[in-house]
Amino acid sequence: MAGAVIWGAAQAEVAPADVAWGEGNVIAESLSGTPGNAGEGAKIYAEKSLGNCVACHVVSNSDADFQGNVGPSLDGAGSRWTEEQLRAIVADAKHVFPDSVMPSFYKTSGYVRPGEGFTGKPAQEPLKPLLNAQQIEDVVAYLATQKE
Ligand code: HEC
Repeated sequence: MAGAVIWGAAQAEVAPADVAWGEGNVIAESLSGTPGNAGEGAKIYAEKSLGNCVACHVVSNSDADFQGNVGPSLDGAGSRWTEEQLRAIVADAKHVFPDSVMPSFYKTSGYVRPGEGFTGKPAQEPLKPLLNAQQIEDVVAYLATQKE
């Protein structure tokens, strides 16, 4: 299971299965123990191979070429939501908005695991989350800068 705990100097990284949910759909604790970097978060927002948030969202001050409108505009997201709420939405949107089409970016369980080729056996490798703990923190830091 991808539950391996990586011990950092100060604080341990929280594995997807160990994320602690607080009252009112929040994740209070940093997932990585390292403050997010908003500049990195902006890249993750726009990068197809990473967050690809632009497939569904628009941020007016982003320099991403093509942005989407499946989800709401994220302008002012840092005013509408606390950091703890933003962390929860990005880590597991389906927990916050049931039936959402937004992917759960920090979750590895509760899915039908893809089988291994034609063997019918379950895949051997543990599934990785779509974004790692630091990438989640970076995106949260980026969203927190979007004030109205
Ligand atoms: C497949 C489409 C899709 C993708 C990809 C996606 N989202 Fe969303 N997102 C949505 C939808 C739809 C909602 C509205 C909530 C709902 O589903 O009811 C939403 C809601 C949100 C909200 C709350 C909006 C508000 O009211 O301010 C935030 C914040 C957010 N998304 C951030 C992100 C970030 C960051 C990423 C990339 C890491 C991302 N989303 C990727 C579809 C998407």
